[in-house]
Order: sequence, then C-alpha cells, then structure tokens
Amino acid sequence: MKKILLLNGPNINRLGKREKEFYGTFTLEDIENDVGALVQKHGYELDCFQSNHEGELIDCLHKADGVYKGIIFNPAAYTHTSIALHDAIQSISTPVIEVHISNVHQREAFRHVSMTAPACHGQIVGLGALGYQLAAQAFITD
Ligand code: DQA
Repeated sequence: MKKILLLNGPNINRLGKREKEFYGTFTLEDIENDVGALVQKHGYELDCFQSNHEGELIDCLHKADGVYKGIIFNPAAYTHTSIALHDAIQSISTPVIEVHISNVHQREAFRHVSMTAPACHGQIVGLGALGYQLAAQAFITD
C-alpha cells in the first residue's frame, strides 16, 4: 500500500491569489507537485483531490479507507465547523494528518478550535507549504 492521499478543502484552490500574507504565493499545484516529488523518491504514489464541498470531502475520505498508507488533509474552513468531517475521519482506519498553512492560533478566535483534529493522527500548523511535506514524511518513515 505505497500510496498517499493529499486532500484539500474549500478555497485551497485559490492559493497564490488569496490572502498572501497568510498563505504565501505558492499554488495548490506547487504543493501537489512538491509533495508528489517527495513521495515518489521514496517509492510512493500520491493521489490529490480538492473540493469546496463538504459532502465530496466526506465521500473521498470514505473511499480512501484502506487504500492509502495515510491521508494529508487540510480541511480549511470546515476544520472549525464540521462535525461531519470529524465523524468521517473517525469512521475510517487510515490515519489522517491535519495540515494548516497559516498559524490558526495567531488568527481569529473562531480558527483556534478544530472539530477535526481530535479524530486525526496528528496536526501540523503554521509552517506554510512545508507542513504538507512534513506530513508526507511522517507517513513515509512510519
Ligand atoms: C487554513 C486555515 C483555515 O482557518 C482557513 O479557513 C483556510 C486555510 C490554513 O491552511 O491555514 O482556508 O486551513
């Protein structure tokens, strides 16, 4: 099972254009290419999916169960609201590492709470695009 899933939630497709002070100038494509190159070096394959729709993210998590070594997931704004995503992560046995590009704890109070993190294997916050690579590294070396 030498496959890893990179999953991104709402507005992550706007990276490079949106709020550059928080999210930098890199694009989602840059992240997918960089993580893909890293995992390939270790003999892993990367699948990537991004959606702005909660239900599509839930369906993707369900389908991913047992298929991947691990899932790197930035649930974006759904992090702070979605019990349904928490339950979807909880319902699968494949480990999920939650990633946030920005340091959500330095931002508005509503970003300080993660509904999804308690169901996750780990969480990486505030390290920019590097966070995705570190999450991949965790699954590769695990
Ligand atoms: C984010 C942080 C969330 O609060 C925000 O809604 C996002 C991106 C991050 O990667 O820093 O869309 O998940």
